[in-house]
Amino acid sequence: MERRNFIGLSIAGISAGLIPSTSAFAKNKEKNMAGGVFYTKQNPGRWSKKIAGHLPNISIENSNGKVTVQVVTAHGMDGYTHYIVKHVLLDEDYNFLDEKMFDPTKDKAPISTFELKNYKGKVYALSMCNKHDVWINEAMI
Ligand SMILES: [Fe+2]
Repeated sequence: MERRNFIGLSIAGISAGLIPSTSAFAKNKEKNMAGGVFYTKQNPGRWSKKIAGHLPNISIENSNGKVTVQVVTAHGMDGYTHYIVKHVLLDEDYNFLDEKMFDPTKDKAPISTFELKNYKGKVYALSMCNKHDVWINEAMI
């Protein structure tokens, strides 16, 4: 074996052993972000006393292939002082599906309704509070 090939193969071998696979890295990263970058019921992090008012509640209605997803955050809308900025709906691969921006001077409650056609699988709902960050919940369609 030529010296150049040997060095190249050695570097590739070392790299393969040191760098975890992409999916394992992504799973660990996601696990570490819950409770720190975003918040869930299981990982509320520094907002452990804020779960009830911030975790988005998802309800699904499925009739004749028309799926309606309603997202409700049990949070007040206190003008621009403290309010839910928006809801975002993502598919099971975290791809953007839809969003609803709230106007705290007009919207009395953070409730959003999304219509999906021919979608089956998991959906994620994000609810963003201007003081208590981003919360995520999930549901199956
Ligand atoms: Fe809040």
